[in-house]
Amino acid sequence: ISLLILSAALTLFVPVLTSLRAKECCPSWEGDGSPCGASSGRGFCKDVEVPDQPDGPQYPFSGLDDREKWPLVFYNRTCQCTGNFMGFSCADCKFGYFGVNCNEKRESIRRNVFHLSRAERIRLVSYLNLAKQTTSSDYVVATGTYQEMENGSNPMFADVSSYDVFVWMHYYVSRNALLGGPGNVWTDVDFAHWGPAFLPWHRVYLLHWEHEIRKLTGDMSFTIPYWDWRDAQGCDVCTDELMGGRSPQDPSLLSPGSVFSSWRVNTIKSNSNSGMLCDAGGEGPLRRNPGNHNRNVVERLPTSAEVEFTLSLINYDTGAVDRGANMSFRNTLEGFGDPQTGLGNSSHMSMHAALHVFMNGSMSSVQGSANDPIFLLHHAFVDSIYEQWLRRHRPSPSQYPDSDAPIGHNSEYHMVPFLPLHRNRDFFISSKDLGYEYSYLLDANQRLAESMRPYLEELQDVWPWLLLAGLCGGIAAVTTAAAVLTAKRRYGGSSWLRVNKWKDLFALPEREPLICSGDTEETKARNYNTTI
Ligand SMILES: *[C@@H]1O[C@H](CO)[C@@H](O)[C@H](O)[C@H]1NC(C)=O
Ligand SMILES: *[C@@H]1O[C@H](CO)[C@@H](O)[C@H](O)[C@H]1NC(C)=O
Ligand SMILES: *[C@@H]1O[C@H](CO)[C@@H](O)[C@H](O)[C@H]1NC(C)=O
Ligand SMILES: *[C@@H]1O[C@H](CO)[C@@H](O)[C@H](O)[C@H]1NC(C)=O
Ligand SMILES: *[C@@H]1O[C@H](CO)[C@@H](O)[C@H](O)[C@H]1NC(C)=O
Repeated sequence: ISLLILSAALTLFVPVLTSLRAKECCPSWEGDGSPCGASSGRGFCKDVEVPDQPDGPQYPFSGLDDREKWPLVFYNRTCQCTGNFMGFSCADCKFGYFGVNCNEKRESIRRNVFHLSRAERIRLVSYLNLAKQTTSSDYVVATGTYQEMENGSNPMFADVSSYDVFVWMHYYVSRNALLGGPGNVWTDVDFAHWGPAFLPWHRVYLLHWEHEIRKLTGDMSFTIPYWDWRDAQGCDVCTDELMGGRSPQDPSLLSPGSVFSSWRVNTIKSNSNSGMLCDAGGEGPLRRNPGNHNRNVVERLPTSAEVEFTLSLINYDTGAVDRGANMSFRNTLEGFGDPQTGLGNSSHMSMHAALHVFMNGSMSSVQGSANDPIFLLHHAFVDSIYEQWLRRHRPSPSQYPDSDAPIGHNSEYHMVPFLPLHRNRDFFISSKDLGYEYSYLLDANQRLAESMRPYLEELQDVWPWLLLAGLCGGIAAVTTAAAVLTAKRRYGGSSWLRVNKWKDLFALPEREPLICSGDTEETKARNYNTTI
């Protein structure tokens, strides 16, 4: 595959053919019809430069895998966007920028999934489902290697849904290297795991994913929520309201009450050592059996103490910067370093990896894991730990290795399989510089305001009812007051008393919203405590 990323107008075979053969991916920007929006100064078509720093010894081949020197096997010219523009045709804005001219900077907040309002939870599930049901208009995925495509003259692509584009990307970046022939694969290679690019790559992945959902739904305020799994006893997001409960019939399937029970997965089987690329076909239902995993591999979900130990490691990555790295923040957070000793090549899996194993289903294979939407909530939290580490240790850019990292992981390497191109080191920076923030990392005042938000939103929904209740109460009060006053007039009484009565009577219905806001105070306080 290439995840050949082509604009909607280019999904026809002929332009794919030309662009693949010419190795040029510089689609026209719809706004002015010029390649890369060049006429409007959004960008220009440029030769791709790939770094020549040596890779680590883990992958002993060269010239064999389409992902080497990404994206040169497919393209040697792509759009280079200027200013705040981004995208394969410079049609989009850089992360954190909005507006027609991409000059509105706005910070998005990723929130704890349990602090979302009811309406936001419903929105989350329906957006995910919409993405799963909608064929991507921007991307097709390749179903053959470049060689099988006869150097571009025989394109092999399939249409997939917007959601499955992302499943595919995760599969493609982590798949085995195909050495030719059935079963002839090299498994010790992964362009986004088992090395320093693990955190920057998944950061970009989530940002693009968020961006796609925004484009698909038109909801520019959408953010991926996170699941704070510290000290969790089980999969507490596995409810039908969120990521799907357990099926009463088969514990490894999802409950029919969840829309996710009808989802079909792909890229799972091709993990096996078949020596073939996944064809993006359906491969059965989403599987998940949380807690029914092999306890010799993972004892339990990560604890707060383990997260704290991981954050205390001062080096981003160490040694050969792979799964054997000792006292490496990256390796420990990824789950191959022991979060109590910091030693690599741990016999148990922990932290990030522990969640995948714990889910005992689609989530448990690296290449197929993004089929399960829990993936997004999980990786958002992993990314927030990465963010905490960046803020605490303020590493210089040179802490990220330039050379000798496992293939795909050097600082200048273009992340596979993204188009537009991104380099690993460009995402070794704070999320604030990429336009987003995590609600639990806000300072205390901002956090208090933030924790009020879902209640205020829900209050907005009930406000018309309160008003109606107030009005009805008001009418009743006026009637009562009129009766009382008539009685008073009839039986005598001073005018000041009359005025007082009116006031009291009108005060009554107005107290109703106060009962409600009293309620909010209480829940707010509870919520505030839990966000600390
Ligand atoms: C890019 O690839 C095309 C097609 O193979 C080739 O003709 C061209 O010379 C290449 N350009 C560069 C700068 O390598
Ligand atoms: C593809 O290109 C390579 C190198 O340029 C060449 O050796 C090979 O014969 C070509 N294959 C096809 C099917 O055109
Ligand atoms: C689920 O756990 C069982 C028991 O340890 C194990 O045999 C099986 O391979 C696991 N399945 C997946 C997909 O992780
Ligand atoms: C870690 O394990 C891998 C494979 O299991 C092995 O090749 C490597 O030498 C080990 N590294 C260390 C430092 O023990
Ligand atoms: C990590 O530490 C262990 C124990 O001290 C040692 O055996 C191993 O060689 C170290 N690995 C690396 C990559 O330095």
